[in-house]
Amino acid sequence: TGLVTVDPGFMNTASCESSITYIDGDAGILRYRGYPIDQLAEGSTFLEVAYLLIYGELPSASELDAFTERVNRHTLVHEDFRTFMGTFPRNAHPMAVLASAVNALSTFYPESLDPTDEEQVDLATVLLLAKTRTITSYLHRRRVGEPLLYPDYSRGYVDDFLRMTFATPYEAYEADPVVVDALEKLLVLHADHEQNCSTSTVRVVGSSNATLYASVAAGVNALSGPAHGGANEAVLTMLEKIRSGGETVETFMNKVKNKQDGVRLMGFGHRVYKSYDPRAAIVKKSADEVLDKLGAKDELLDIARGLEEIALSDDYFVERKLYPNVDFYTGLIYKAMGFEPAMFTPLFALGRMPGWIAQWREMIKDPQTKIGRPRQVYTGATERPYVPVSAR
Ligand code: CMC
Repeated sequence: TGLVTVDPGFMNTASCESSITYIDGDAGILRYRGYPIDQLAEGSTFLEVAYLLIYGELPSASELDAFTERVNRHTLVHEDFRTFMGTFPRNAHPMAVLASAVNALSTFYPESLDPTDEEQVDLATVLLLAKTRTITSYLHRRRVGEPLLYPDYSRGYVDDFLRMTFATPYEAYEADPVVVDALEKLLVLHADHEQNCSTSTVRVVGSSNATLYASVAAGVNALSGPAHGGANEAVLTMLEKIRSGGETVETFMNKVKNKQDGVRLMGFGHRVYKSYDPRAAIVKKSADEVLDKLGAKDELLDIARGLEEIALSDDYFVERKLYPNVDFYTGLIYKAMGFEPAMFTPLFALGRMPGWIAQWREMIKDPQTKIGRPRQVYTGATERPYVPVSAR
């Protein structure tokens, strides 16, 4: 075929042109549609950023109102959909349930499946943003054996998500504004990250003209792995293991450096960021604020700080340009908010939803798009004759 180069992990392959997200990995810069991530995290809401990513511009006040109202109107899930979610074992990993649920949405909304019909794509967009929030809160409720709660349209997207997740009949629920702000910020930080593993998956699946739901469900599955979105849960498992095993951070770090049993420092390293992950810097500050405010003294935070301190001054990490990534501290914040570790990656998925949708929509409209179909360098046997089983 004349193909001679293999590019494992696509380290040096641009799969598309995109005008959504800009990253300069050496300088630690991340921008959505030109806006610096720190300014968006500070000033905007998640739905505003979703609109920005999907439609290309920040919404005016009336555009944002109309968009919010449209999302609100679709927040309820169909009773049969609730029944469907109820068929999974309670202790099933919520990422598996979430991927199945996103896929199943397509069976409930056949009027939103045609990738070539702009109105249908817009409906699927809003349905995904609205339903994923309800689904994610229900993932938590089912795990703890509590009923699905109905949305309250008078509250904001994040505020009502927290209520639907944590409210009980025993007392009126008011989310702490510090928690609402912190979660809003975290969702904004996760909203897009150009051609990462899950987004590339969404684009490749979509390049066959599969539906937005099918493409995004594939993205959720890609996100679940511990090298990608699953890292936030894996960080907490790692910290718990260090604590319960009575291991010192030094001993653990020696294991990492010696690559003993393939142990990696979860929440560290990034394919693109080689100075620091600008999202991690914001998250670290937020972790301090939230944990302080909630009075959540967490021993695990001290372990995390200890690991980071060693890593930042150790040759192994310095030479390889390994810095904390967005996942290093997020789990500790989610935990302080009351989420269990299995829910951390679904929260990442909730945040990444606008990015997946925006990238899929850009792909569908791009005249350069072709079906994703990489080639290979074949290394197997040369031609040989078939031998019947009786003769083998
Ligand atoms: N701990 C210890 N060593 C590491 C780590 C780590 N977390 N990450 C990379 N290395 C080493 C790796 O062993 C290799 O060393 P050597 O050259 O001696 O073989 C070198 O650094 C380069 O690593 P790589 O695996 O070739 O780098 P990559 O760009 O393919 O992988 C990564 C990027 C994020 C998958 C990887 O850094 C990793 O596994 N990190 C831990 C998991 C994690 O935190 N993932 C979240 C990423 S950010 C959010 C997201 O994408 O969802």
